[in-house]
Amino acid sequence: MSKKKVAIIGIGALGEGMVKVFFDHPLVELVAVCDTNKEKVEQCAALYNIKGFTNHTELLEKVDIDMVYVAVPPKWHHDIAVDVIRAGKHILCEKPLANSLAEAENILRIAKEQNIVHAMNFPLNYLHNTLKFEELWLEGYIGKLRKVELTMQFPKWPRAWQQNSWINTREQGGFVFEVAGHFVQLIQRFFGHISNVESELELPNDPTLPEMGITAKMRLANGVPITFNGISGIAGMEEQHLSLTAYGTEGTLSLIDLKKVKAGKIGEEFQEIKVENNHFWNELINQFVDAIDGKTSELYDFQVGYDVQVVLEELRK
Ligand SMILES: NC(=O)c1ccc[n+]([C@@H]2O[C@H](COP(=O)([O-])OP(=O)(O)OC[C@H]3O[C@@H](n4cnc5c(N)ncnc54)[C@H](O)[C@@H]3O)[C@@H](O)[C@H]2O)c1
Repeated sequence: MSKKKVAIIGIGALGEGMVKVFFDHPLVELVAVCDTNKEKVEQCAALYNIKGFTNHTELLEKVDIDMVYVAVPPKWHHDIAVDVIRAGKHILCEKPLANSLAEAENILRIAKEQNIVHAMNFPLNYLHNTLKFEELWLEGYIGKLRKVELTMQFPKWPRAWQQNSWINTREQGGFVFEVAGHFVQLIQRFFGHISNVESELELPNDPTLPEMGITAKMRLANGVPITFNGISGIAGMEEQHLSLTAYGTEGTLSLIDLKKVKAGKIGEEFQEIKVENNHFWNELINQFVDAIDGKTSELYDFQVGYDVQVVLEELRK
């Protein structure tokens, strides 16, 4: 099979790193990048000897591509994703799918009308730690589920690695919208549909700034409660602390800081289970290419993105 031709729209904090991932991947050929920042585009295009654009419609018109990875800020996901889909290209879109439920609904509808592969970049799905968590849950390690708990702590928001003009705005930033979605998706993957969302946000007086805290409660279809506890602006020097914990009738299971899994039976030690880390970005691209080739693949499509958006909009109101 020939390599799939890829273009990337948005080469910021995340997209820039992904340029190298796509460039190095053996199954794809990175042919173009696009960003409204002209200097960035010129540098990147020269470095990788590929085409550069500052306007995505021009890229879509002029370059022969199979798939597009969209990594612009959330506010631009809708318009750009719709243009990519209407151009008939396969699309990998950054999370969140869009910046409102109406936008997400529209993207999903248009994507379903076209014969294209559409997928979300929810990379935690490809982490070996996540797979270990799921394996233990499915084999009944913790028994019957009693409660799911998400803790998100950010000594500083925004984090040092992701400084930009939008991440600290109520319009399209904040840690709930930026980070919690990954876990909403994982919870729905492991345990099923989330509903009955009750969310209390700690909002600063300045209406342009995002939440500094969240205390939220929701339920799974079988009534099991889920709680989200998040806060920013706290003591500590770490970048962040994130943990997703499932409490069962027989044990406890936790995915911690995306780096480790801890498990224990009731009455026993709660200890780390060593899992070898993997290159999850490559895995996502492998799956995407398989999907384009019509093979069975593990992708989280725009329906999954939409289902996450429903919960996120209830959380952030
Ligand atoms: N999947 C993940 O794990 C993960 C991690 C971080 C960020 N993200 C998501 O990735 C997206 C980008 O985040 P980031 O931190 O890289 O943001 P960023 O602001 O650093 O980068 C966005 C880039 O898009 C460019 N841009 C803005 N509007 C554009 C347009 N209309 N056309 C072309 N380029 C445009 C900007 O100039 C910038 O270079 C966001 O949706 C964010 O939520 C996902």
